Amino acid sequence: MAIEIKQLHPLFVGEVSGVDLSQPFCDGLAQDIVAALDKYGVLVFHDQKITDQQQVAFSRLFGPIETTRYLLRPGEPLRLDKHFADVSNMDAHNRVVARDDRKWMGILGNRLWHTDSSFKQISATYSLLSAHVVTPTGGETEFADMRAAYDALSLEMKERIENLVAEHSIFNSREKLGFTDFTPEERAGTPPVAQPMVRVHPGSGRKSLYIASHAGLIYGMSVPEARMLLLDLIEHATQHQFVYTHKWRVGDLLMWDNRCNMHRARDFDSSLPRDMRRTTVCDTANDKRPAAKRAAA
Ligand code: OGA
Ligand code: MN
Repeated sequence: MAIEIKQLHPLFVGEVSGVDLSQPFCDGLAQDIVAALDKYGVLVFHDQKITDQQQVAFSRLFGPIETTRYLLRPGEPLRLDKHFADVSNMDAHNRVVARDDRKWMGILGNRLWHTDSSFKQISATYSLLSAHVVTPTGGETEFADMRAAYDALSLEMKERIENLVAEHSIFNSREKLGFTDFTPEERAGTPPVAQPMVRVHPGSGRKSLYIASHAGLIYGMSVPEARMLLLDLIEHATQHQFVYTHKWRVGDLLMWDNRCNMHRARDFDSSLPRDMRRTTVCDTANDKRPAAKRAAA
C-alpha cells in the first residue's frame, strides 16, 4: 500500500497513514519513508502496536543501528534490549526512578535542544521513538526545522558560520545541568568529536544548521564567544515558527532525521511513568573513528 502523508506544520513534519509496522514490510517501504523524511524531516506514525523486535527490524531497514550503554554504571541491568536508548524514567523492574537517580539526570539532559548522537564518533541519521506509556499532561517532544532556520539566517551570519566547526561532547550537555558525576573511564570512553556547524542535508541538498546542546566550543574561538554564538543560533532556530510540538499518544512512533532537526523533551510529572523507547540509525557516512579503529571494525 502506498503511504499517505498529511503535513502537520507549515514547514515540516508529515503524519503518515497506510502503514502498519506490525505487518511484514512491503517492498519499497524504506525508500518511500526515506523520500518522505527527506522532505518532511519528521514523520508521525499513529496506532503502531509493535513489539521491541518489530521496532528493531523496522529501524534496520535504514542502516545499522546503535547499541547503547546509556551511561549506566557497569553491572546496572538494562530495562530494554541493548539496541534501545531507554529514554523512559523507569528502571529494570519498570519502577519509576527516584529524582536523584542517575538515569533521571540523563533523561533531564533530553530537555535541552539537541540532535541525537552528535557527540558520537558515528553520529545518527534517523531516530525512531515509540510511546508505550505517556503522561496525561506534559512530556511533549518539540522539533525545530534546522533547514528553515538556516535559510532564515542573515547573509552575514551565513557567511560567518559557513566554515565553523564545533566540538560536541555528551559531557557538555550534562554539565549544563550540573550533572558532572562521571568516572574518568566514562569520560575517556566518549571522547569529543568535531562537527561542522553547517552541513548539506544529503537527502534534499539543502543547507542545515548542525548544532546541539552537546556543542561546547568552536575551534578558533574563545569558549565564551563560542558558547554565546551557539546560544544565539539555538535561540534563533527554536523560534515559534520553526517548531512543531508533538503531544504523544500511546502507539505513536516518531521517526526523524537528525541531520536536519533538533529536538527536546518537555517537562512532565516525574512521579508518573513515561515509557519511551528509541532506536537510532548510525550515520556511517559520518564516521569519525580513527582510521585504525575503522579498519579493525
Ligand atoms: C530522544 C529524546 C525526547 C523525549 O529519545 O532522543 O530526545 O521526549 N527524547 O523523550
Ligand atoms: Mn534525543
